[in-house]
Amino acid sequence: MGDKKDLLEESRQGEVLHFNADDGTKVGKKLYIESYGCQMNFSDSEIVASVLGKEGYTTTSNMEDADLVFLNTCSIRDKAEETVRKRLNSIKHNNKKKKNVKIGILGCMAERLKSQLFEEEKLVDLVAGPDSYRKLPELIDDIEDGQKAVNVLLSREETYDDIEPVRINSNGIAAFVSIMRGCDNMCTFCVVPFTRGRERSRDANSILNECKDLYSKGYKEVMLLGQNVDSYRWSENKDLRGRALKEAPRDEVVDFAKLLVMVGKVATDLRVRFSTSHPKDITDDVLFAIRDYKNICNYIHLPAQSGNTRILEKMNRTYTREWYNDKVSRIREVIPTCAISTDIITGFCSETDKEHADTVDLMKTVRYDLAYMFFYSERPGTLAQKKFEDDVPEVIKKKRLSEIIEIQTQVNKEQHAATIGQTFEVLIEGVSKRSENELRGKTSQNKMIIFPKENYKIGDYVNVKVESSTSATLLGTAVEKVNY
Ligand code: SAH
Ligand code: SF4
Ligand code: F3S
Repeated sequence: MGDKKDLLEESRQGEVLHFNADDGTKVGKKLYIESYGCQMNFSDSEIVASVLGKEGYTTTSNMEDADLVFLNTCSIRDKAEETVRKRLNSIKHNNKKKKNVKIGILGCMAERLKSQLFEEEKLVDLVAGPDSYRKLPELIDDIEDGQKAVNVLLSREETYDDIEPVRINSNGIAAFVSIMRGCDNMCTFCVVPFTRGRERSRDANSILNECKDLYSKGYKEVMLLGQNVDSYRWSENKDLRGRALKEAPRDEVVDFAKLLVMVGKVATDLRVRFSTSHPKDITDDVLFAIRDYKNICNYIHLPAQSGNTRILEKMNRTYTREWYNDKVSRIREVIPTCAISTDIITGFCSETDKEHADTVDLMKTVRYDLAYMFFYSERPGTLAQKKFEDDVPEVIKKKRLSEIIEIQTQVNKEQHAATIGQTFEVLIEGVSKRSENELRGKTSQNKMIIFPKENYKIGDYVNVKVESSTSATLLGTAVEKVNY
């Protein structure tokens, strides 16, 4: 499971798209962009493709064809940064770099390391933080003149709400929609508040318009993205800002539950997913929205991080083990079929064997549908790095990690066995990687099912009966098409 996240971190994307540049001057210029890290970064790359599309750039999936190579980077763990540095080395050594090709580092590593990156990585020409993508055309003009260019200013307002993302590597069925940026939570282990800046919510109308537009283009699923979606808050009243917005009465603001319902009403056959929910902030109203709207998916990513209250406090997660367990019980009471996933960190500063056993116990009692698991990686500049000692030896961190991975694997095996014989409504997302005669799609609970193609098409909703399972996937047969 931990590997899954790592795979995401290492996944790359790029695709050939076609634009007509009206000034003609830059026709033929090509952009290659690789994204690392979380879904927000993948979503941001689509903003970047859009900003540069207007400048006449087309994107290419082939680095050798590119005039501009961008790596949209992640800083969440040391390994994430290491992956990018290795990638830069391989670009250098394989001599993939055409003469005159320019290399840019975008995203969280750009924000964290700023112009220091130019000294450490000689290949790099441009460094742009997550709030500076509107400025890319000017930065590119600078590097074309042979200078190095950097913009790492963080903004309190930028949400790119008027920029229509250019979908990269899209299956035409599911799309990311960013609803907010930044994070104000200050979990002590986390670099995100430093790389993404202050939390701000995007205009609800622009979110809604983007979802409607996607639906009109044939998309059947939107994934609403934010580091802490439950603290989404927006108002038509522009005077309501900052604290006033946080404290305004509920009928004056659009909160996350209201936003979910607004998006849920776009169309009964447009699925709505969202990530990430914070255990301290998720409300009953969000649960009621999931319960009351069939197309709002029965899936909540509710990262626990640890099962021990002292460690949770040290992490500044602002909830206890009991609070977390109560949230899980409440979710299951309101939405009995809801899948719940988590993120767990093992070996955080001063974690004892006994405290780790509380995490093991939490995982055994909650029985997550999915878990992303990591060992603690100290990040420069974070509160934990400044205040606490990273004193759990790496071997112990890794031992604890393998222990929870083993538990999770066993839980998933048992859960898969229990679904055999059950029927689920599946949205078909594509052709299976195993065979052209099979399709793949997901249940509302985000479980992948593979089944024979027959006459079904990508984008159809079908009821599928589960017949067997592998460790990661369910295998079944379609029973009937679901008509909306
Ligand atoms: N906003 C989300 C998480 C974003 S980062 C939330 O609050 O849950 C994704 C995950 O990476 C985190 O949930 C955490 O489990 C992990 N992570 C973050 N910083 C880490 C660090 N320093 N070492 C190891 N894992 C970390
Ligand atoms: Fe990081 Fe915590 Fe914000 Fe998540 S909520 S991005 S873990 S600071
Ligand atoms: Fe990584 Fe930045 Fe996302 S640090 S996890 S890409 S917000």
